[in-house]
Amino acid sequence: MTTRIIATGAYVPEQVITNDDIAKVVDTSDEWIAKRTGIKERRISSGENTSMLAVKTARQLLERAGVEAETLDLIIVASITADYATPATSCIVQKEIGATNAVAFDVSAACSGFMFALSIADKYIRAGMYNNAVVIGAETLSKYIDWSDRSTCVLFGDGAGGAYIEKSETDGIIKEEIGTKGEIYDILTAGYTASTGAFNNYNTDHLWYVNMNGREVFKFATKSVVKSVERVLSDAGVSVDSLKYVVPHQANTRIVEIISHKLGIPYEKFYINMDKYGNTSSASIPIALNELNEKGLLKRGDKILLTGFGGGMTWGTMLISW
Ligand code: COA
Repeated sequence: MTTRIIATGAYVPEQVITNDDIAKVVDTSDEWIAKRTGIKERRISSGENTSMLAVKTARQLLERAGVEAETLDLIIVASITADYATPATSCIVQKEIGATNAVAFDVSAACSGFMFALSIADKYIRAGMYNNAVVIGAETLSKYIDWSDRSTCVLFGDGAGGAYIEKSETDGIIKEEIGTKGEIYDILTAGYTASTGAFNNYNTDHLWYVNMNGREVFKFATKSVVKSVERVLSDAGVSVDSLKYVVPHQANTRIVEIISHKLGIPYEKFYINMDKYGNTSSASIPIALNELNEKGLLKRGDKILLTGFGGGMTWGTMLISW
């Protein structure tokens, strides 16, 4: 028994912020950003919070899968930019779509969040506990961006993407792994809140914003993804040649180029859309997967690989027979 993706969906805010727009507020240029990252524009929310993006994605998933909300067993939202510390964003999704019989919780694994959430949902389904799940990555990273820091503000965007998954006897998830390297957690952080003691005002400082050692993250990304993909393919006994597409975390085209080169997987097999959305953290892989699916580029039985890395530091890779 395995778990199969039945439907994909995504929602991004309407507001497009181009590299030229950002160049009006910090000392940067379209040329620098595009050359170093591959990003040309991103969507930035003008008021919709993370739960709203997730709810719109969930509604689309149910409609596309043709299932009633009451039949849902499990809702997992992966996010690092939830509306509240409590409730979990997934509980808001449960209410808004009327999934009265589902259990809902969130997962925090930054840009690997969707991979972690899918991995968890898969285990519940394989164990026979649940028959189906909605898994969503949703972020409004713009809340955590210091718009005067050119080294980070050019990279991120807002959005949500997800999958409706079901128990399957045939095609589905073949092999996967998730991993963490907490010893270097401090190379990428966001949303720090201090514990200031009784009667003190709750305050935030610069650590509220995304803080990143770009070069170290770059090194971690290329190493961890390459090793993870090699392990998953070798455990599954699947060669790189049999892969139809790789859907990587959409952080930086230079990272993808290195991964492509090291793994010997042609760059054309990597599905890239970071030029339009930037790095949407946990939403990046499902937004890209949904685009690939919407374009009709996936056929039943195609072998595809999802792989990502992110804060934590974390990584996750999944080999799927579509
Ligand atoms: N516009 C113009 N110049 C910029 C800039 C910007 N937006 N951001 C940084 N620079 C400058 C720096 O100040 C530095 O100038 P200096 O040489 O005068 O000191 C120069 O560009 C090089 O900076 P550096 O940080 O070494 O650039 P880089 O080649 O490492 O590229 C990143 C920076 C962030 C694009 C790159 O490190 C990266 O993509 N890292 C991974 C980040 C990532 O994926 N994060 C998400 C993880 S999920």
